[in-house]
Amino acid sequence: MTRCVVVGGGAREHALAWGLSRHADVVVTPGNAGIAAHGIPCTPTPAPELEADVVVIGPEQPLVEGLADELRARGTAVVGPGAQGARLEGSKAYLKEFLVAAGVPTAAHGTFHDLASAAAHLRASAPPYVIKTDGLAAGKGVLVTDDLAVALEDAAAKLSGSAFGAAGSTVVIEEGLIGEECSLHFLCAGGRARLLAPAQDFKRVGDGDRGPNTGGMGAYAPMTSLRADQVAEVRERIIDPTLAELARRGIDYRGVLYAGVMLTARGVRLLEYNVRFGDPEAQVLVPTVEGDLVELLRGVAQGDVTNGVAHAAGHAVTVVLASHGYPAAPRQGDVIAGLGEDGQLADPIDGVVVFHAGTRRHADGSFVTAGGRVLAVSASGATLEEARRRAYAGAAAITFSGKVSRGDIAARAAS
Ligand code: AMP
Ligand code: GLY
Repeated sequence: MTRCVVVGGGAREHALAWGLSRHADVVVTPGNAGIAAHGIPCTPTPAPELEADVVVIGPEQPLVEGLADELRARGTAVVGPGAQGARLEGSKAYLKEFLVAAGVPTAAHGTFHDLASAAAHLRASAPPYVIKTDGLAAGKGVLVTDDLAVALEDAAAKLSGSAFGAAGSTVVIEEGLIGEECSLHFLCAGGRARLLAPAQDFKRVGDGDRGPNTGGMGAYAPMTSLRADQVAEVRERIIDPTLAELARRGIDYRGVLYAGVMLTARGVRLLEYNVRFGDPEAQVLVPTVEGDLVELLRGVAQGDVTNGVAHAAGHAVTVVLASHGYPAAPRQGDVIAGLGEDGQLADPIDGVVVFHAGTRRHADGSFVTAGGRVLAVSASGATLEEARRRAYAGAAAITFSGKVSRGDIAARAAS
């Protein structure tokens, strides 16, 4: 049996491990209480010390730090780019330089190190104002606002280091783009790219896209409103030039390239690249992957990917349950009701899987909240409506004090 190691400890890694475990022996490092309860072994032993045919690296941080390079140097097959490729996500300033060199359509931008020039740029721009920290900030380093005063205050906080430390000491200010957003995950290797089901995630904490940005409050796939000509435009104008630029820079990119794309009235624009599966997108992509996920990811690790589009099997919706106070100041330690011994729904619902993001287990076996995002309740269905109904039934069956979730995940698409 193929032995897979999954690196990470959130709901994305739970979903990947769950999907892989249908066709492989899986170990997760470090994993979490919910993954272990689900019968998938977790270990604190770091990936380089584990036996593996394939290692799948979930989060961006170890990729940026070069874990994939370290593993490849030992001859291990890895899903995830090396440190050079991971800079596409690790530095917004590098990303922008890369996109300009590649000729990929993206928001116009300026890079700033001091407040005076950042403020002058903002005053000369039209809303919406978009201000990003240069470094990694777990999806929370981006402010989009129509209010110039708020924008100026945010730029000041980021540049002073008070908001994100060193990650914020350079800011990128972008032209605000207007349109529908989508998450397009490409499996990349050998200069080729295969598109998984188009997905949409919901980044703001509140219904109707209100409130601050979060890591992601829910997602669905496939996004059936995305037209074939838009997919073709993304490939032609964004992906092909990116693959060519990677080759020009001598980067052998083997991993997931997740393009955050805005569909604007003037065509597709790249918002950002992530160099790994989205979270919570993985929680809907894994359940809808057609075929054997182990073979698919092994192909990526070994440089064997075919161009094209992978068809989705059915539909999936995931609803994130977050802690009281998320995202600013999440509370921990609230007891979770509705889960059984295995961390899944105590009263199972067809097609529903509960992926654990931030839970801990008490000595008495009960689960408690232990992070901002706590659980992602995913459901598959023959239709989006069915998947959505099941996901919300599952989400309602789980309760804890201060539970934060959105009621409108996939609502528009399913209506
Ligand atoms: P990023 O981490 O760069 O994807 O930014 C997080 C979120 O901020 C995106 O998913 C968008 O919703 C929003 N965003 C980022 N850049 C822009 C932009 N140039 N115009 C409008 N919204 C943006
Ligand atoms: N869902 C957004 C992200 O994973 O970055």
